[in-house]
Amino acid sequence: MSDLWVRYPGTDWVLRGVDLTAEESEVHVLLGPCGSGKTTLLRVLCGVIPHVVPAEVRGTAQVLGTDVVRTPLEEVAQHVVYVPEEVPAGVVLPVVYDELRLTLLLAGKDLRILEQVCATEILQRPVDELSYGELLRILLTKVFLEERPVVLLDEPSTALDPSSRCELVRFLDELAHRYGATVLVTEHDLDYLLPVADKVTVLESGRITWSGDLETFLSDVARQLRCLSPLVKVFSSRRYG
Ligand SMILES: Nc1ncnc2c1ncn2[C@@H]1O[C@H](COP(=O)(O)OP(=O)(O)O)[C@@H](O)[C@H]1O
Ligand SMILES: [Mg+2]
Repeated sequence: MSDLWVRYPGTDWVLRGVDLTAEESEVHVLLGPCGSGKTTLLRVLCGVIPHVVPAEVRGTAQVLGTDVVRTPLEEVAQHVVYVPEEVPAGVVLPVVYDELRLTLLLAGKDLRILEQVCATEILQRPVDELSYGELLRILLTKVFLEERPVVLLDEPSTALDPSSRCELVRFLDELAHRYGATVLVTEHDLDYLLPVADKVTVLESGRITWSGDLETFLSDVARQLRCLSPLVKVFSSRRYG
């Protein structure tokens, strides 16, 4: 995205001239306090803004060369998997084990992918009995099946217990570093994403105040940013003195 400005009807600008590039095979973490515009940014990238949620958009936002603001939502959705803060059940309802298996077979893919990413037992339970973490896994399984290389996750840790977070980290690692997906994750805090993050961007009041690779982030600025927890500070001081 380049010089992206967004405002909702009747509000001031929520994003103010954002320039951001997320690359293939990378986990890019978008950090920022509440209200900084993280969700708005993801909504633009997946086409929800302006196609579902009305907003004024200036500047450009592209996914794989497609102008997501001026392209129909169905077309954008072919390239992007968006996991909002709360996953609506309807998104994953049609996904059942047999269907996933069939899709894999038709695509000539290794069935073991399914077992790697998602216990088959989960896929056989009714969707309304599944936790957010389980839904998330099923939804992300679609990435492997449908080859949507861009994955947007909005604060996934909020609804996950610590062990599910570890699982998510392993999964993001696979997605980006083995399957080459572009992964953009928003969070308040880096903590649990430290093992997997490649790039970090900090958004404050709709503007990017820092962007670069994780190593530089930790060594240069970690201790000065208020949005980081003591864990990151300890990690950073151990690693870089
Ligand atoms: N649909 C909406 N209509 C009007 N204002 C909105 C809407 N969604 C978000 N906002 C406002 O936009 C600002 C940024 O929100 P958001 O993108 O959700 O930030 P974050 O995800 O970083 O918490 C906030 O001030 C919020 O109140
Ligand atoms: Mg948000």
